[in-house]
Formats: sequence, C-alpha cells, structure tokens
Amino acid sequence: LNEAWRIVNQAKIKVIMTKSKPRLLSGDTPTGKLHLGHWVGSIELRVALQQCYECYFIIANVHAFTTRAEFPKEIRQNTFEIAIDYLAAGIDPKQSHIFIQSEIPAIAELTCFFSMLLSFPRVMRNPTIKDEIKHKKLGDNYSFGFLLYPVGQVADILSFRPSLVPVGEDQIAHLEMARECARRFNQIYCGVDPQTKDEDYVTSGGLFPIIEAKLSRVHRLVGTGAPNANGTLAKMSKSLNNAIYLSDDADTIRKKVMAMYTDPRRLRATDPGTVENNPLWIFHEIFNPDKAWIAEAEDKYRKGQIKDVDCKHKLVDILVALTQPMRERRKIYEQDLGEVLKILKHGTERANEIAEDTLIKAKAFMKQDYFKRLVKLEP
Ligand code: TRP
Repeated sequence: LNEAWRIVNQAKIKVIMTKSKPRLLSGDTPTGKLHLGHWVGSIELRVALQQCYECYFIIANVHAFTTRAEFPKEIRQNTFEIAIDYLAAGIDPKQSHIFIQSEIPAIAELTCFFSMLLSFPRVMRNPTIKDEIKHKKLGDNYSFGFLLYPVGQVADILSFRPSLVPVGEDQIAHLEMARECARRFNQIYCGVDPQTKDEDYVTSGGLFPIIEAKLSRVHRLVGTGAPNANGTLAKMSKSLNNAIYLSDDADTIRKKVMAMYTDPRRLRATDPGTVENNPLWIFHEIFNPDKAWIAEAEDKYRKGQIKDVDCKHKLVDILVALTQPMRERRKIYEQDLGEVLKILKHGTERANEIAEDTLIKAKAFMKQDYFKRLVKLEP
C-alpha cells in the first residue's frame, strides 16, 4: 500500500475520499502482449489507484479490428493475453472490473450519436490518428472504421462518466476529443451554458463530466535498441523488436538487458562513458529505487570506474524482482482460463450496468426515449 501511495503522489493525484469511490476508466487495444513501456506508462498507476477508485479496464477488441479485420483469431487470442497481462500485473479482480468492449452495446450506440457531434475535419486533425497512419504505414488505404475509432474511444470513456482516465501520452489527443464531445453534448442536449467552467458542467445539469486525463510518472519509455539515424532513441514497441515484456522469464530479461544498447564509444570499463541518452541509465533512473546507488554509479561511469556489465547485472536484478510476482500470478491464471473467463464475464456485466444507465440517460436528454429500453442484457 505504501508503494501505491508513492506512485499516486508522484503522479500528483489528489485523492478525494468519499463514501462511494469515484470511477476510473482506462484500457488497451489487444494487439500484443504488454511490455515495460505499458507498465510505467499507465499500468503501474492503474494498479496503484485500485484502492481509491472504482476501476474499469476496457479491452478494446473492436478497435483491434480497425487495422486487423482479417485476423479475428489473433484478436481473440490477444484479448485473453491482455486479460492475463492485467491480472498478472496486479489488477485485482476482487476490486476492479476488466471487460470486453464488443460486449457493451451502449458503447456502439453512443459512438454513433457522438460521431454527429464532431466534425469530420476535427477527427482528421487528431494527431494520434495522423501518427498511426504514418507508423502503421496505412497510406491512404485505411478503413472507414479506423477514422471512427477515436469517436469510439470517446464513447468508451463517456459511457462510464469517470472522474479519472490514466493513459499514456499518445492517448491525450483522444481524451481532448472526449472533453470537446462532452461539452457539446451537455450544451446542446442538457442546456448547459457554454461559458461554464469544465469542472462545473455536471453540477450545472450536464450528463457528462469533462474528464481529466492523467499521465503516469514516465511518459515515454525507450526501447533496448540503438538510436535511429537522427540520434533519437526509439520508443519501446513490439514492432521495433526492442521490448521487454511483462511476461518475459528471468532468463529472457537477462539476455535482453545484457544485449541492451549503451555508450558505443566505451570499449573498456576504463573509458569515460556518457550517461545522457543511454538506455542503461534511462532504465536505472526509471526502475531502480536506489537513487544514491544511481548517483554514485553514474559518476563512476562518467569517469570510467565501473563496468557496463556490472550496471547491467544490477538492472537485471531490479527488473527480475519487479516482474517476479507477475510471473507467479500469470502461472496461476494461465492454468485456469475458466477463471479468467469468469472474471471477464463478471467485469462485463458490471460494466454493462453502468454503460446502460448512461445510455438511457443520454437518450432521454436527446429526447429519443420513446419506450423503456427494449434490449435486455443477461444479468
Ligand atoms: N486506444 C487505447 C490504446 O490503444 C485503448 C483504449 C480504448 C482506451 N478505449 C480506451 C484507453 C478508453 C483509455 C480509455 O491503448
């Protein structure tokens, strides 16, 4: 719990103690296993916030279809992988809810209504969309649904009317759209004055809060590889083959760290080394809690008084210790997929209760509440 508070404080989150916990929503698209970049970028904070927030974690399987519609089997497998990654990482199914996006019909319905509140050029200006088109090499051949997905994400979020949405840096553009969309909905359908301050929208009669984004203590983790041609270190990512996964065993972690890029001009331990822009030290600064050790070792490294391998061994120990409880929990869940399915079903049921409640209220504000909701979802 102390560790949890340290992380919460670092992220400068004011925790307000109320009778019922405020809601938190976050999630991931199931495109592969989670790695250390995901951990420091968001998962670590989510795990820490479980005690103070009622947490909902969405596995965005519909979003996976936007670029991989031909691979349903892989998407199904990745969906289970993310669920197991979450549980292994320390998301506690007794406290938090993990759910599957495609099982929440209210999200799809709200996506459709929300898409009418955002202009097409506005969606096209979304920098994350532009980046993804470039990085995933989608050219001009992306699906119509791909452009719709940020609006879908707005619906993922607003369906839960959460107080907090902890995400990685690349998601900020989507959260800004959620804020714009919520303001517009509240103004048009709930009669909220456009001059209203963001924090006052709900008390002024709006349905949707103007949500707060929350970045973790590390916004971007570098990979284990060498910098690219212009000298910048790439972000940790599956496609660049520079990732350390939460599911890696101790031996794999050791191999990856020992092969990690450091200062290429340092041929012997007695050569002075550069600490800046050196993944070895970036990792130490992020993962090694012993700040005094880092300060001393960095100083020795600069002066050529410490070996690369020794600093790497130290990092291996830290990363293996961090992931050890994850490996233990993973083993339990991997051997009991029935339990994982039960957790997903339970989380999805509870998520549907909330999203349905939001949808019914939204339709009432939109004057489209002709009869009682006809779709019945299994309890
Ligand atoms: N787009 C997010 C990602 O790729 C996943 C996601 C979908 C999400 N819906 C969300 C994250 C709602 C936060 C809130 O990682």
